[in-house]
Amino acid sequence: MIDAGEQEARDLDKADPGHRDLFDVPTADGGGYREVAYFAGNSLGLRPKATRIELLEDLDSWAALGVEGHLDAARPWLPYHELLTEPASRLVGALPSETVVMNSLTVNLHLLMVSFYRPSPDRFRIVIEDSAFPSDSYAVRSQARFHGFDPDDAIVRLTPRPGEDCLRTADVVERIGDDVALVLLGGVNYLTGELMDLPAITAAGHAAGAVVGWDLAHAAGNVPLSLHDWDVDFAAWCSYKYLNSGPGALAGAFVHERHLGSDVPRFEGWWSTEASTRFEMTPASRPPATADAWQVSNPPIFSMSPVRTSLELFDKVGIGVLRERSVRLTAYLERLLAEISPTRPLQQITPADPNRRGAQLSLRVSGNSSAGELSKTLRFKSGVIADAREPDVLRFAPVPLYSTYHDCWRAVQALAQAIPEVSIP
Ligand SMILES: Cc1ncc(COP(=O)(O)O)c(C=O)c1O
Repeated sequence: MIDAGEQEARDLDKADPGHRDLFDVPTADGGGYREVAYFAGNSLGLRPKATRIELLEDLDSWAALGVEGHLDAARPWLPYHELLTEPASRLVGALPSETVVMNSLTVNLHLLMVSFYRPSPDRFRIVIEDSAFPSDSYAVRSQARFHGFDPDDAIVRLTPRPGEDCLRTADVVERIGDDVALVLLGGVNYLTGELMDLPAITAAGHAAGAVVGWDLAHAAGNVPLSLHDWDVDFAAWCSYKYLNSGPGALAGAFVHERHLGSDVPRFEGWWSTEASTRFEMTPASRPPATADAWQVSNPPIFSMSPVRTSLELFDKVGIGVLRERSVRLTAYLERLLAEISPTRPLQQITPADPNRRGAQLSLRVSGNSSAGELSKTLRFKSGVIADAREPDVLRFAPVPLYSTYHDCWRAVQALAQAIPEVSIP
């Protein structure tokens, strides 16, 4: 006999289905179900079925055409990156001219900081979150050092108030003073899942005379964005999380229209020049007044292919529709977690307000098992994939494209089994 909770989950899946059939879902290592309940899409998204087919098509153009594929492939390689520009721009609320898919995330942050971190002796500080992903911390420290500043002095790390896990917008805004050259925050924090108030912080940064950039690794494909309208200076994001484009997939970059064609410094290569001038073999470039000017090298076609396939999928479904399902799915997971948490050492650190979070719920665990041990138990005993950030945070991302209500139910059942109840005084 099926349990009433499981039946409810099954019914919700019928009433509010996603697009799981378009994805390859790994087989479970444990538990009574064939497929895993996958909650690590905030780390590495699942593979769309179309990715393999379309990547093979691109590979076969190489076999069939050799160098002629640059112009004659079904999807010619020379302008291939342009196929990604429009769908990527729609996803982040940008103009196509403001958007480019290239490199990886931290590389893009560096290329953009070359242009937009222009410190002076009086204004040289970079504001980040204390819980920024380490790559961002290393990147900003190395940029400060590159410009001759002491990173311990130049980098301002924002911490939540005592006893709190997330940042308050007012506290962020207050810290952006006239010593700040750059604000570079995660749009959605990787650890807590907090969705920052991007328009308010961007406006406050500008009012204080700072440049404002965003790391959208956990925001792109997760929440709707309006980078152009919010007047963001620059942004970068990866494509291997919510954008399901595979491990180490190519990243995106955004540069606001008002910086395009300006004389901000950039690092250049042959892909920075206007496409029509690329083969003129001249010593100086003629960069276009678009984000393409930030490109350096010729793009890796077989890495672009999965990003193109994935962006097409986002275009078809629409980030607005996905966000609506995401809010419902995350609220359901939250409700089930609330049923087991009061009697277990489990605390949700992600904001309870749906407007302040995306598709991720992070839990602090404080029992006898570490987060790492728990995630192994979930995987091998129950076929539930969640990821651990040591020492004590478990992250669950119900991804609206392919996660189900039944996955959420399984996750909470698995957690309840893995973490013994404690007596409440
Ligand atoms: C917020 C954030 N920034 C930066 C990175 C690093 O990205 P990459 O290795 O693609 O440069 C990650 C990776 O997970 C991330 O989550």
